[in-house]
Amino acid sequence: MLKKSCAVVCICLLSILGLTATAGAQSASSTLRIEEGTTGAGFCGVDGWIHNNHAGFTGEGFANTQNQLGNGIDYAIYVDEAGSYDFEFGYALHGPERSAEILVAGVAHPFVFEGTGAWTNYQTSPIQTLQLPAGVHTLRLVGTGSQALPNLDWVNITGGSVTEAPCNANSNAATLELLSPNSIDWVAGSTGWLNLTLTSDVTVSNVSASVIDSSAGVSFDYPGSADSSSLSQDSTLSPSEIDYSSINFTTPSAEGIATATIQINFEWLGVQHSVVETLEFSNVNYEGEDFAILTESGELTTSLDAPEGNWLELNYLGLSPVNSHLEVSVDGPLDAYHPQGTYTGLHYDAHLHGGERDVARVWFDPATLDAGSFTLTVSIEYVDANGEAKTTSHDVVVLVS
Ligand code: GCU
Ligand code: CA
Repeated sequence: MLKKSCAVVCICLLSILGLTATAGAQSASSTLRIEEGTTGAGFCGVDGWIHNNHAGFTGEGFANTQNQLGNGIDYAIYVDEAGSYDFEFGYALHGPERSAEILVAGVAHPFVFEGTGAWTNYQTSPIQTLQLPAGVHTLRLVGTGSQALPNLDWVNITGGSVTEAPCNANSNAATLELLSPNSIDWVAGSTGWLNLTLTSDVTVSNVSASVIDSSAGVSFDYPGSADSSSLSQDSTLSPSEIDYSSINFTTPSAEGIATATIQINFEWLGVQHSVVETLEFSNVNYEGEDFAILTESGELTTSLDAPEGNWLELNYLGLSPVNSHLEVSVDGPLDAYHPQGTYTGLHYDAHLHGGERDVARVWFDPATLDAGSFTLTVSIEYVDANGEAKTTSHDVVVLVS
């Protein structure tokens, strides 16, 4: 077996990229112009094409719906206050008038586009005024005749503060994901904290987790702790960041499964969202062991775009008080894969008290990884509750994709 260790300790990979603005005081009226495009925000698609064969447009062209009843264009906007918003469309229409409607939350606002005389003659539609509540809106402009819409150059939206919103803005599936497992090994009748590891694909703010329900015997209010927790670094989670929220639990003394329902709240573009997850605690009475090894396998990726893939998390559960020290060895050709840094301790401190879960993270340089699998041997030196120095080791099978 080859063994390698070094003193590089990489605790966290965190990058705070920005803060999401929250709704403020009443703002002055402004106009947002949304041109055709495929940016993933603002203009969200046309049932047809982006064309540029009739001059006179602004931007890169115009949105040409395929001539068929029901075809249209989708937009996503964010307004930070409720109120009236004026919609005006720049368009060209050679032929006779075409009827259309703006769909907001399933409600249709019908109007008519008059002919402009030529496909190169772009004009401005009459203003359509809509009442919008604050928040994110996906809007659809749809043709209600067999020829669908005229050629659409842009839309101007005038009102309080209007900005383009991500096109998936209204999907609640959105944005915040719990990376840590929902089923947890725990020591029966013990207290300890649990890290909820979170990631988000857009920047969200005011992130906090709390317990909203629990089955008999699980409580989350052991002395000195709160039942709700914000993120460990700050309350904002950006797309490249992984952070966690710690919640304290006390589990029933009987062995078996107990559950806790947690709610993770966050704010995105001024809108409150939440994700509800159920955690299952497998309560076990371990006999005569100092700590339990919770990680038997792991996954890594060769992709640099997946920061979570570069870390291997090794989870341990304290059963009686120990002071521990980890040495990580790789069983296999070191040229092919090796940890860049060997993590030499637990994340919080070198101690595991009864009922405490802690994690050691080993970072791998993705460039050194090959797809396949290898075995990582983790050696742990520790001092047990009686002050006796002990050594143990365990294997972790690692899949590399
Ligand atoms: C013509 C014109 C298109 C237009 C279409 C229509 O084909 O070139 O730009 O979209 O008519 O009737 O909608
Ligand atoms: Ca058309």
